[in-house]
Amino acid sequence: MNKIIERRDLTPSLIQFIVDAPMIARRAQPGQFIILKVREQGERIPLTIADFDRERGTITLVFQVVGKSTSLLGQLQPGDSIPDLLGPLGEPTEHPQGKYAVCIGGGVGVAPVYPEAKGLHQHGYHVTSIIGARTRDLLFFEEEMAGVSDKFYVATDDGSKGQKGFVTTILQQLIDEGQPIDFVIAVGPIPMMKAVANLTRKHQIKTIVSLNSLMVDGTGMCGGCRVTVGGEVKFTCVDGPAFDAHLLDFDEQTRRLSMYKDKEQEVRE
Ligand code: FES
Repeated sequence: MNKIIERRDLTPSLIQFIVDAPMIARRAQPGQFIILKVREQGERIPLTIADFDRERGTITLVFQVVGKSTSLLGQLQPGDSIPDLLGPLGEPTEHPQGKYAVCIGGGVGVAPVYPEAKGLHQHGYHVTSIIGARTRDLLFFEEEMAGVSDKFYVATDDGSKGQKGFVTTILQQLIDEGQPIDFVIAVGPIPMMKAVANLTRKHQIKTIVSLNSLMVDGTGMCGGCRVTVGGEVKFTCVDGPAFDAHLLDFDEQTRRLSMYKDKEQEVRE
């Protein structure tokens, strides 16, 4: 159980595991996540389920090596087991009405947006996908995303691949060209999701974003993953991770993230 079957290094700091977890694979829905621990006393790491195969009984996890816990996780190899793996957690993403979906993934956010695009594609939606990264070496899942999309676009900040600019540059073009868009699902860094939300708000296009908040217990008890949505307090772990982008308080998320980064810096020093 929880054995790593395959490992793929997607970029220098991004790793993909395919893990034998039949119980989770059987129940997983797009948008849900797992929480894992590499060591008994270790930090809990929440990760979106980037894919699942019910027949094979496997789930796909993608993570970025950013701190101590993820670097320990990154040392695991095929054949090793993840000692503690809990899920599926959170609510499956609810899709707004309509047939024309745009799925946007920025940076590591491409991993969680992939199951969304795949699920929509399987259910007969018209899927346009846009993925973005700073530069071409940081892009991943291009083939996977293209394979579940009717239209597929790439943006890089430096123009080394696809359109030079941001994912919102392409979204703006699609809107200007009059492409029908019923709703947008965007996952990525907070500034990217905020920029997408600002653009779609102007055009009254329903938008869902998925948060990768810092989590402690993952059960709605600790308050660690608190967010404000439409003036109401919600918890990413039980009410999310997907929320209405036009109701979410992005500035609060930015503040919390920078608080966390300061703390992390302190610990490192
Ligand atoms: S992780 Fe504790 S409330 Fe969500």
